[in-house]
Amino acid sequence: MELVHLEEGATAKVRSAVVTLWEGCGLTRPWNPPERDLAQAIAGPTSTVVVALEDERMVGSVLAGYDGHRGWLYYLAVDPTRRGAGLARTLVTTAETWLARAGARKVQLMVREGNPAASLYPHLGYERQDTAVYGRWLEG
Ligand SMILES: CC(C)(COP(=O)(O)OP(=O)(O)OC[C@H]1O[C@@H](n2cnc3c(N)ncnc32)[C@H](O)[C@@H]1OP(=O)(O)O)[C@@H](O)C(=O)NCCC(=O)NCCS
Repeated sequence: MELVHLEEGATAKVRSAVVTLWEGCGLTRPWNPPERDLAQAIAGPTSTVVVALEDERMVGSVLAGYDGHRGWLYYLAVDPTRRGAGLARTLVTTAETWLARAGARKVQLMVREGNPAASLYPHLGYERQDTAVYGRWLEG
C-alpha cells in the first residue's frame, strides 16, 4: 500500500478514482460537487488530499486543510473491502502530520448526524466538542 499526496498534475483517471471512492463511501452530496472539492483542495497551498493506493487501486483518502487557526479533515474514506485494517488510522495520522507542519495545533472534523462512523474518532484520540457548527453559502 502506498500513500500519496495528490498534486495539481494528478491525472483525470486518478481524480475520477477518488470521486468514485467518495461516492462508493456515501460521502458526496449534490451541493458539494466532488470534482470541484477535489480540484480546489489539491490546487491550494493550505490543503492536501492524501490517497492510499494498492496495486494502483484507489482504496482510501482524506482531505486536510489548514485555515490559519485550526486544521480540518474531510472526505475520510476507505474502500469497503479494505476496512478494519487500520487504513483510516494511517490516513488520519498522515493528514495530522501534514497539518502540524502547516502550523495547526489542533485538528477538528465534522460528522454528519447519523453517520455511524462517528464512533471511529474516539479510537483515534478525538473528543466530541461542545460546539455547534453554523454555515452560510457565499455563492448563489
Ligand atoms: C469510517 C471509515 C473511514 C473507517 O475506515 P477503516 O479503515 O475501517 O478504519 P480503521 O481500520 O483505521 O479503524 C481505526 C479504529 O477505529 C475503529 N473503527 C473503525 N470504524 C469504526 C466504526 N464505524 N465504528 C466504531 N469504530 C470504528 C476500529 O475498530 C479501530 O479501532 P482500534 O484501532 O482501537 O482497534 C470507513 O468505514 C469508511 O470509509 N466509511 C464510510 C465513509 C465515512 O463515513 N467516513 C467518515 C466521514 S466523517
